[in-house]
Order: sequence, then C-alpha cells, then structure tokens
Amino acid sequence: MTTSERSPGGPDVSGHENIGAPDPSLDVAGALGKELQRFANELFAGRLPSALASVGAGGASPAVTLPPVPGPVARPPIPNANVPTESDLRPIHTLAHEHFGIPLVTRNEPSAEPYFLQSAGIPTAVPGASPSLPSAAQPPSAPSFGGLPAGFAVPSVFDASTPSVPGGAPSGMPAPAPSAAAPPAPAAPPHAPAASGGVPSSDLFSFSPEVTPDLRSSGELFDPHAVKKDFPILQERVHGRPLVWLDNAATTQKPHAVIERLSYFYQHENSNVHRAAHTLAARSTDAYEAARDKVRRFLNASSPKDIVFARGATEAINLVAQSWGRRHVGPGDEIVITWLEHHANIVPWQLLAAEKGARLRVAPVDDNGEVRLDAYEKLLGPKTRIVSLTHVSNALGTVVPAQEMVHMAHRHGARVVVDGAQAVSHMPVDVQALDCDFYVFSGHKVFAPTGIGALYGKPEVLETMPPWQGGGNMIADVTFEKTLYQPAPARFEAGTGNIADAVGLGAAIDYVTALGLPAIHRYEHELRCYGEELLRGVPGLRIIGNAKEKAGVISFVLDGVRTEDVGGLLDKEGIAVRSGHHCAQPILRRMGLESTVRASLAPYNTREDLDALAAALHRLQVGRPR
Ligand code: ALA
Repeated sequence: MTTSERSPGGPDVSGHENIGAPDPSLDVAGALGKELQRFANELFAGRLPSALASVGAGGASPAVTLPPVPGPVARPPIPNANVPTESDLRPIHTLAHEHFGIPLVTRNEPSAEPYFLQSAGIPTAVPGASPSLPSAAQPPSAPSFGGLPAGFAVPSVFDASTPSVPGGAPSGMPAPAPSAAAPPAPAAPPHAPAASGGVPSSDLFSFSPEVTPDLRSSGELFDPHAVKKDFPILQERVHGRPLVWLDNAATTQKPHAVIERLSYFYQHENSNVHRAAHTLAARSTDAYEAARDKVRRFLNASSPKDIVFARGATEAINLVAQSWGRRHVGPGDEIVITWLEHHANIVPWQLLAAEKGARLRVAPVDDNGEVRLDAYEKLLGPKTRIVSLTHVSNALGTVVPAQEMVHMAHRHGARVVVDGAQAVSHMPVDVQALDCDFYVFSGHKVFAPTGIGALYGKPEVLETMPPWQGGGNMIADVTFEKTLYQPAPARFEAGTGNIADAVGLGAAIDYVTALGLPAIHRYEHELRCYGEELLRGVPGLRIIGNAKEKAGVISFVLDGVRTEDVGGLLDKEGIAVRSGHHCAQPILRRMGLESTVRASLAPYNTREDLDALAAALHRLQVGRPR
C-alpha cells in the first residue's frame, strides 16, 4: 500500500527532503563534476541542442549512444566521493556515459531467442530460449549478489517452472513452462552466505515454502551487512550522514535484483499480455504468469488461478468488499474487524456497510496491543458474514493469532480476509495452513515496486464472485446484449495490468525467498529486541505496543517532544522513521495518542542502525531544556 493510496490526512510527517529535481547548488567535485553541473544547468535552462534535449522525452537522438544492456555485471559501482553528498539519484557514471561517452562497464548482450509463442491462448515452450537475465543460474559471471560460491547452482525450489505443490499449474492457465517460461530466478540467493560452520553450501538454501521452515541454521548465517549492499539506495547520504532507513513499514527499498529485472523487462520483453501472437507478447505473458506462480508459491496457494494481481493490499481489500461483499452482505448482516486495523481495512467495510445497511463490529485490544480473543469470540454469530483482520499491525507490530481467529470465524460460517501487508516481508505465510478465504499484500512492502500487489482467494470463493471492474482482459465474449466473463483470476484483472511491476514482484519474491524468510524472521526478532532494549534507556521514551508476538515495528513517544519534531530531528541525522498516525488512527487513539514515532525494520537493518537511532534520541533529550 503506498502512502498516496492511503492518504495520511493528518499530522503525518515524512521529514524527507525533496529528492526529485537536481539541486543546482550541489557541490560536485572535480572536472567531470563541473562539466555535469554545466550540463545540468543548461538542461534546466533549456539551452541544450534539441537533439540532446529530446532525451528523456521519448525521443531517440542520434547524438546519444544508448548504454549497453545489462549483463552479468549487475551491480553498478557505488557512488563515491565525487558524487554529490545529497540525494541526487541519477548515478553520475550514467550521466558521464550518456553525455560524455565515458564507457560504462561492459555487459553481455542478451540472447535474441524468444521464450514462447502463444498458440490458442496457451504458451508453448521454445526450448533453450532464456535471455541473459541477471541470474543466479550463471554463477561464474553473476556477481550481483556477492559471496556466491563458485559453481553454486540454484536449487530447483527457486525455479518457477518446478511445480512445488501437487497439481502444479492447472490446465487453462498460461502455465509457466520449463526454464524458458520463467526468467531465471534473479540470481542467486542474495547473499548466499559462504559455506561456514561445516554446513555444506548446498544445504544452505534447502528452505522450501512447502515445508515447515528450519530455523536452526539460518539465523547463524544471516548477514545484514551483506544484505544492505544489495540495496543501492542504502548507500545514499542524507544531510551528510549515511542513510539509515527505518521506515520499512511505509515502504521497503529495492534490491539490485528487482531494479535490474524491471530494466530488463522494458529492454527485452515489454508488450501487453494475453493479447497477441508476436514474440514480445509471448515474452511478457510468460514473465507475467511466471510472477503469478511465484506469488502462489510465496503464499503456498494451491494454484496460480487463486492469485489476482492488484495495485496493492488496499485495492485487493476493496475488490473483496465490492465483489464478494456486495453479493453476500445484506441489511442487518455483520462485518467484524479488529481495533488494530489500518484505514485500508476499515474504510472499504464502512462503505459496504453503509451501502447495504450492515453493521461494522470491532474486536477490542488490550493495553499491550493484543486482540482480546474472548471479546472477539463474543462478536461472532449467525449474522457475521465476513471477518477482516490484519496479520501484523502496522502501527504497533502486533502479530495476531490469525490461524486461530480464522478458525473461530469459520465456526460461525463467516468468510475471512487476512491483511498481510505488514506480514509477508517478516515471516513465512501459508494460506492453506491459515485456511483464510482471502489474503492480501502489497509488493512494495516486500522489496518490490509500488503499484503491484496480490489477492489470494480460495478457488471455490473466487468462482462465486462477480467482476468488480469491467474492461478488456476479463471478458470471454462481448456483444451489446451480453458479456461472458473469464474465470478467475482474469475476471478480476480488467484492463492492462501493471505488467512490469508484477514481474518485479516476482524478482522480489525470488530475492526474499533466497534470503530465507525463517532467517529473516529470526534475525528481525533479535534486532527488534535489541532496539527496544536500547530505546528503553532513552530518558522519557515510552514504547507503544508490547504484544508478546511482534514483527518489525518499534513505535514510541518521547515525553515533551512532538512526534513530527522527533521525525524531523532524526532526519537531520540521516535517520528515516515515520511519525504520525500511520493510517491507523483508531488503534493509536485506543492507546491514548494521536501519533507515534515508528522505527520499522527490514533484513538490511543492523544493530549499528539502531545504535544510531538510540544515540540520536539520547542527544535530542540531553540537548533539550526540560
Ligand atoms: N501502510 C503504510 C504505513 O504503515 C503506509 O506506513
């Protein structure tokens, strides 16, 4: 869910500087820097020759050499001391290459072979046809993830073409076909840790989403500093300080694997999907459907037919409310949510209840931020049509006992939606074990681009749901008298979807799967405990939300300092946290507050990040007159 989708509408302060247009006052060191500065000045003053000025406006200019396509050298050089110290996001080496002909690192040309050609709507494999994506399948020349042992082979679990649940891709779906269908898993396990402690490297990646995770060895091997290197933006400096990104519950940063996969898509695969017989349509359809299958595996759904792409968790919840809800909820019926919910899991149900004359009921939480299961049970009854609950609270970090709550709701015949927006990047999720009817999440919270997410629905439930939007792709046949719809998931994907970002989501899933969610879960738990201990030592600091099970969030207030001022002061030290109501006003008010400061964690955060946060808060308190 993007912040723009979920309008803050309150005292939400990001505290970030403008990182859009280049700042003409930037002090760029060296002769090259001066040239670039002059170039930028002229560009913005509109004084450049028209051929150059057309670059970026969609025009191809004979005066400009396009950069070589990406190949095995996947990780661009990290900006060095010649780079402006503030957030000019345009890499200097790119500018230097485009405008002054300074060579970039040479990359391999991709294979020109196509992946698939569509035939009668079902893609057919063309053997041996994978272009040279940045890929772990090319270990000797794929340094993008660093630390990969020579000769490392990606286990079959990372190959989208390997059905990991009996049945695999059902007929009728554009099945991810062997090898060529799915672009090779983005490379390797982001950090395949070097074999250590006597554990053979081939055992390090034996985690499969289909089996109970093994938590024993993964924690020992997790190296957040290596993970950090996979995320180019984490090399930024803000106000002259190294960026410390602790706003992961708002959005996560993107690894090279995702950035490069997007770039690759637009350079080699871009086309609409499911619509044409040409090669690029086949490539993009394959990439898109392979991404759907990656989502299926990520959630342990039984079929890709159960996975609908949406803009994010917000849109997916609205889809359920508008499609399932309008059909199944009537006057006097009850919709149950919890007090922990994000606005995105409140407002769509309010809209439905208002339209249908139904009643919204809210399960209370205790002072620690845990749902009171006794009170929840009492809310459930014969009128309960649907329960919608968050898996992890974005404001407090509480992990709710989702499986138990789903079970309780099912005893009363209600359907259950689980909002996994804050869960999927922190813990393995298994929708079959949860037995929920719907599960939603946003890609951008799990290292994928914004504007893409997914809805899982049980097939027998999706089958009964009408479309919620009409348009292309969701139809089987249209006349002026009558339209026949496609089955799920196409029925719920009207119009051209966010194809490239769905492919990017697939790359992010590969990335996070390779890191290992059990390892991430264990590491983040230790990191959060470490951070909470440190912050408790800051005078006047109170942690909000002390549930026994928490994931990735430390919410707090500081006596006598407004939360937005804390956020602004931390920003001056390069530390990004969110301050405000976190789009979850009811739970903060339940805690007697209008806003908190929230530090939220990801696997690239380190103890040093939390040391920096605690030190900055100490300085803030010490320097403040009381
Ligand atoms: N849902 C996002 C957050 O918690 C925007 O910050």
